[in-house]
Amino acid sequence: MGNVTITNHPLIQHKLTLLRDKNTGSKDFRTLVGEIAMLMCYEATRDLPLQEVEIETPVALAKTKVISGKKLAFVPILRAGLGMVEGVLTLVPSAKIGHIGLYRDPKTLKPVSYYCKLPNDIEEREVIVLDPMLATGGSACDAITQIKTYNPKSIKFMGIVAAPEGLDMLTKTHPDVDVYCAALDEKLNDHGYIVPGLGDAGDRIFGTL
Ligand code: PRP
Ligand code: URA
Repeated sequence: MGNVTITNHPLIQHKLTLLRDKNTGSKDFRTLVGEIAMLMCYEATRDLPLQEVEIETPVALAKTKVISGKKLAFVPILRAGLGMVEGVLTLVPSAKIGHIGLYRDPKTLKPVSYYCKLPNDIEEREVIVLDPMLATGGSACDAITQIKTYNPKSIKFMGIVAAPEGLDMLTKTHPDVDVYCAALDEKLNDHGYIVPGLGDAGDRIFGTL
């Protein structure tokens, strides 16, 4: 099974509390999603391999490290995953961005796919899928199944809030995928919303409540 990391750094927990608060408006919500994504990206890229290079400082020659040519692609699941893109690009500005369009049918809670556009050189890239909410897990699993057909080097999933049901489905369906979440909540309610969660992430980011 892939590794599951709950990135519960104090800064992330603090920002997540503000994010969950129903009185937080869209502008602050967007800022917080971006900041949390940036902090989580620091953890999700911890295993990037390094290679040694020699450079000249103003004082001396130095053997030092750079990231060894690994190419990343971030793939947000529309719409809410878009809120995480700016934050992760702050840390990895050279990454390419793909997009997967999925929405959850409100009756069946099953994902409906409407868009997929990935970088042409995806086979040479490590992919990190972005979506703040892992509820039933259907959207994340479907997105990853689609991405796998393009043969990327590897896939990780980075979410913000997960329900046990979604985490279980994702780790069972895609045991090769490492998962990063900021919080593992209690459960799903009868409408498939995460409890306590933060409500509808896409609506809160884009003000479509
Ligand atoms: C939300 C969220 C995930 C999905 C999670 O998207 O951003 O993509 O639900 O639910 P699941 O784990 O049960 O599949 P939504 O379907 O509301 O679409 P939107 O982002 O366009 O609003
Ligand atoms: N999608 C959301 O945006 N929020 C939830 O709680 C569940 C699915």
